[in-house]
Amino acid sequence: MTKHIAVLPGDGIGPEIIQQTIRVLDKLIAQGLNADYQYAPLGGAAYDQYQHPYPEVTQNLCRAADAVLLGAVGSPQYDQLERSLRPERGLLAIRKDLNLFGNLRPAVLYPELVNASTLKPEIVSGLDILIVRELTGDIYFGEPRGIHTLDNGEREGINTMRYCESEIRRIGKIAFEAARKRHKKLCSVDKANVLETTEMWRQIINDMSHEYPDVAVSHMYVDNAAMQLVKNPKQFDVIVTGNIFGDILSDEASMLTGSIGMLPSASLNETGKGLYEPSHGSAPDIAGQNLANPLATILSLAMLLRYSFNDEQRARQIEKAVGQVLAQGLRTNDIFETGCQRVSCSQMGDAVLAAL
Ligand code: IPM
Ligand code: MG
Repeated sequence: MTKHIAVLPGDGIGPEIIQQTIRVLDKLIAQGLNADYQYAPLGGAAYDQYQHPYPEVTQNLCRAADAVLLGAVGSPQYDQLERSLRPERGLLAIRKDLNLFGNLRPAVLYPELVNASTLKPEIVSGLDILIVRELTGDIYFGEPRGIHTLDNGEREGINTMRYCESEIRRIGKIAFEAARKRHKKLCSVDKANVLETTEMWRQIINDMSHEYPDVAVSHMYVDNAAMQLVKNPKQFDVIVTGNIFGDILSDEASMLTGSIGMLPSASLNETGKGLYEPSHGSAPDIAGQNLANPLATILSLAMLLRYSFNDEQRARQIEKAVGQVLAQGLRTNDIFETGCQRVSCSQMGDAVLAAL
């Protein structure tokens, strides 16, 4: 049966990096991959066309698709819009709409790029961490929320951190199973010394650990985890945490590699449907200049094939091609170092295609 992919180029460099990734997808289809794809707007691009960051056309396409491939959303030109119409809201809305609660954010250091990190090579070489971030709960979506005026005339802002048990269990399951396929170490990050929500989080992860006796579980407070990530990041295999802590720690972890332009991500629901996007943002400063690094998006396509289409072979084929172009010394601006060959976004796409 033909699988359907919804492609959302988004804003900023989104369309350029998606264009290169679609060339890779076209090639795989030509080689026999049974899939097709259709485009829809998200974020600012959707606001321009439909006055909404996640319009109905996009909802319909994404709900019907087997997987979603996203470029990036956001651009300063939309900062003045009312909050509910901003590009980021489109991203939060699609996560919630498709129930994409399981966010996988790998932070992998490619041996060729060891000098791109701001940390010493011996601290980061061989780094391979997977952050499993809960994506549809926590303070991001908790009610009550808002800004209102108190009786004394002063304004008060409110957000609510909350998790129910089932939400913790389902993200825990993803994390334990991921750890099982890797080095069997799971570190759960919380703030159980202060926040009851995460005290319960810790209890549930401990409960679940009995079902996974082969996985070594540890717990860490989020402040300590932030410190340990820069002090000794290689102690980690899989990290599981809530939405807000995961947002912060995954940015930190990505920078350990020095090349956020290389990192893909997956956001999954219970059925294996997923949204795949680079970990980096829309980089409006270099948009439209053919300078962006398309590799994180191309690697997101590899994750799509692995997690939504169960096609490990083609996922590896893409990852191998990316490894090959790095070994050839090709570098976009963001990962350039002396002695390498500087290439544009489309030239990087050419090289990946050739390697495929
Ligand atoms: C991310 C981003 C988003 C988030 C923003 C753009 C809403 O920072 O995907 O990490 O906070 O989840
Ligand atoms: Mg973030």
